[in-house]
Amino acid sequence: MKIGKVIQPSSAICTSNEETIIVRGSDLCNDIIGKMSFTEYFYFLLTGEKPNQATLEVVNATLISIAEHGFVPSVQAARMTFAASPEALQGAVAAGLLGCGSVILGASANAGEFFTDIRNLMLKGHSAEQAATEIIKQYRIEMKAIPGYGHPLHKERDPRVTALFKVAENAGSNLEFIAIADAVERVIPEIVGKQLKLNVSAAIPAVLLGAGFPLKALRGIPILARCAGLIAHLYEEQEQPVGFALSYQATREYQYTGTVPENFKS
Ligand code: COA
Repeated sequence: MKIGKVIQPSSAICTSNEETIIVRGSDLCNDIIGKMSFTEYFYFLLTGEKPNQATLEVVNATLISIAEHGFVPSVQAARMTFAASPEALQGAVAAGLLGCGSVILGASANAGEFFTDIRNLMLKGHSAEQAATEIIKQYRIEMKAIPGYGHPLHKERDPRVTALFKVAENAGSNLEFIAIADAVERVIPEIVGKQLKLNVSAAIPAVLLGAGFPLKALRGIPILARCAGLIAHLYEEQEQPVGFALSYQATREYQYTGTVPENFKS
């Protein structure tokens, strides 16, 4: 059975022969290994271009900013999976990455689309505040959370926001999307009726889109970064296991709210 058009499979990322591996047109062993940092290589893999110094510093900082944040759900899921299946590090890492969506960990991609919608309106002559107000109102009508704003712990600005903005400013990167992110924060209270401050998932696209990072690859940042944090947690889990303790904590106050047969004793 055939699905879709018949086309020749192709990719511009890599080819190889017996002696040489070519990645994005460069010789991996002679031109890349030992000559590029991992962050530089990641950007090169993604876009086929070497990042300029400002972009490199910004991408590097975003990866560091979201690699680790304690016993968050991705870490708990990974450590519990590893406790149940200690032979499958890869499965535990995958379990930790599965929830990288619009609520926590993966909201950068949604915030990037949100900022891009605002910028598109600005290109039609709206001020940042006007454009932000219009798009936020649309989110409210659709009953969607404003991506990248609000945090359960960091009720004032998430400290990672200030740190990332400082990196972008010091690197001389384009600050256009930071200005949009700030404008959103200013207009939120009037429309939403709450002070919702920028969190790291807004700061990541705010600095990356200005630096030329592709919108469609934004979710890759938390996925790639959290992989590193999860590997650290799973390495520690081998020495200091807490996976089943986390599971116990979750069930300790568990209450069954369904029905039971008459003769069932709990
Ligand atoms: N947009 C609209 N309303 C929001 C909101 C947002 N981004 N963040 C919080 N609120 C509202 C909630 O609806 C809730 O309103 P209610 O009291 O009328 O029910 C109130 O603010 C408190 O929300 P709550 O979910 O208890 O706050 P929280 O601080 O625990 O939520 C998040 C944290 C991250 C789940 C929430 O802020 C959110 O969904 N943000 C958008 C997604 C995001 O940026 N995720 C990345 C986090 S790093």
